Amino acid sequence: MTKSTSGFFHSYAHDFNAIYGNKNTPLNSLINRIFRKSMRLRYAKTIEGCYPIEGKRVIDIGCGPGHFSIALARMGAQYVRGMDFAEGMIKIAKANAEDAGVGEACDFIMGDFTKDGIDGDFDYSIVMGVMDYIEEPKKAIEKVMSITKSKAFFSFPVDGGILAWQRKIRYRQRCELYMYTQEKLHELFSSSAGCGKFEIVKISRDFFVTAFPG
Ligand SMILES: C[S@@+](CC[C@H](N)C(=O)[O-])C[C@H]1O[C@@H](n2cnc3c(N)ncnc32)[C@H](O)[C@@H]1O
Repeated sequence: MTKSTSGFFHSYAHDFNAIYGNKNTPLNSLINRIFRKSMRLRYAKTIEGCYPIEGKRVIDIGCGPGHFSIALARMGAQYVRGMDFAEGMIKIAKANAEDAGVGEACDFIMGDFTKDGIDGDFDYSIVMGVMDYIEEPKKAIEKVMSITKSKAFFSFPVDGGILAWQRKIRYRQRCELYMYTQEKLHELFSSSAGCGKFEIVKISRDFFVTAFPG
């Protein structure tokens, strides 16, 4: 395969980090309101789902620049591990954690979560904006559930409609993209080993899934 997802995200790291930045010009606010609604909603739902956070261990898979990890460390998580296979993302995540004063509680490591071993287990697992790029979702879900003690949170991009098509066209030259229907997700989580109850909610351009081990 010539298109590399890690290579794409390595070179996109700076711009992706800026999406979370505080460039609150009227144009940025408008763009964020229209195009980044899913990102805002999945962030808010994940943070809310991680209560209570004091003393908990969290893994943030495909952590990117580390915004989920850092927020949870600031809220009192005992330990947060961010994992990402794009070097540029890990570098920014470490710098962001130091700037936020939570470098001690966060551990950012470079790795491919579908291939590399993951030590230990975690109260909460976060997989936001990542399943879009995963070729074998069932294996990935099973791996996440095997290290999760309380809850895992995933997002999956919604297939169908003009916005999905527009994204597929944009990503053609970047990396492989995988999209989902509610039925496909239901089948996937129902048949994944280590997954008990789960809830699928559509939020704008994503499905937000909360899964419990069982
Ligand atoms: C769209 S970004 C989302 C970052 C972060 N979760 C967020 O929502 O702000 C997707 C991230 O997943 C990472 N990623 C994709 N597939 C991965 C894999 N197999 N192992 C580790 N990281 C992966 C990419 O490098 C990228 O940083």
